[in-house]
Amino acid sequence: MSAVTRPVPNGASGSAPGSAPSSALLEVTDLTVEFRTPGGPVRAVDRLSYRVEAGRTLAIVGESGSGKSVSSLAVLGLLPDTARVTHGSVRLAGTDLLGLSRKEHRARCGDQVAMVFQDALAALNPVHTVGYQLTEALRGRRGMSRADARKRAVELLDLVKVPNARARVKEYPHQFSGGMRQRVMIASALAMDPDVLIADEPTTALDVTVQAQVLRLLAEIQAERQMGLVLITHDLGVVAGVADDVTVMYAGTAVEQAPVAPVYTTPAHPYTRALLRSIPSASGAGRLSVIPGRPPSPGAMPAGCPFHPRCDAVRDVCRTDVPPAAVPAEDRMSACHFAADIMAGREPAPDDKDTGGHDD
Ligand SMILES: Nc1ncnc2c1ncn2[C@@H]1O[C@H](COP(=O)(O)OP(=O)(O)O)[C@@H](O)[C@H]1O
Ligand SMILES: [Mg+2]
Repeated sequence: MSAVTRPVPNGASGSAPGSAPSSALLEVTDLTVEFRTPGGPVRAVDRLSYRVEAGRTLAIVGESGSGKSVSSLAVLGLLPDTARVTHGSVRLAGTDLLGLSRKEHRARCGDQVAMVFQDALAALNPVHTVGYQLTEALRGRRGMSRADARKRAVELLDLVKVPNARARVKEYPHQFSGGMRQRVMIASALAMDPDVLIADEPTTALDVTVQAQVLRLLAEIQAERQMGLVLITHDLGVVAGVADDVTVMYAGTAVEQAPVAPVYTTPAHPYTRALLRSIPSASGAGRLSVIPGRPPSPGAMPAGCPFHPRCDAVRDVCRTDVPPAAVPAEDRMSACHFAADIMAGREPAPDDKDTGGHDD
């Protein structure tokens, strides 16, 4: 069973109808998540599709509130009670996780999909040693002995390059720096040997130099173990040397999907283009520009393209019609009416203001 309801241009081996089963480890198709709120249902994720293959890294990039975390929680079966998946599928090595009970879903992910959260200090328990926390799951779920667990904890800290691991497993989280704590979180996520690691803004809380070290470490481990890595970030600047593919999210939807290199050279969506312009320069000269305005809240989406109120290439059609998913080049998707123009570096043709007063 490898039916794909619509092509996901992301990744090197998109599966055409009738082709061999997809090689995707994790395949998210048309995922839609709604929250129950006093004002009615609010759609936080809207028909999101992506795929992650063994040995590849997918970066999911978007401003705060674009649905990056909520979509990941849905993948892991960890949505809060007020949210539910209203549409779509999440396949892990071919099994539709959303067809399982919540308990089975989580159990299945517990072994095969791990997540690293942004705030390591909040995720670690201050009253237990780092070594204890690294191996709690191994002892509980795999019945590992104390001695073996201690040995494994040292191995895990070595793996994430925490110096002097043998001594440090006995220390408490507050004795670690921010960067070292984030390494502990990564080690903890790796304890069960997952096939897929979802890292949700793993370096946002860290300073720039430490960010780069932690990202490099993640990339190394990913390559070594041939894991699938989903790297979530609001900063398009950090994914260049790390990701293979990029999904850009805006207001709950994927607006552009492509291999990483062309995202930088020929972005096919005005939002991606604007994100690129807002990357701080390496010289520390600050942001070149900030995208004016704010993303819409899920309860108050504008008509037409969700990005149109902030778009510097907006035309009349954008204010009324939701853009279809265009495929401006092989392996690429852009939800822009003018994807081909933007990708080619051309501005879309101006609106024809003379047609307003014609006779019927
Ligand atoms: N508990 C909640 N109740 C209602 N809406 C929520 C809740 N959590 C998140 N949302 C909505 O889902 C959207 C996506 O949130 P999130 O996935 O956390 O964004 P990101 O991780 O991209 O910053 C937010 O804009 C927010 O409005
Ligand atoms: Mg988030």
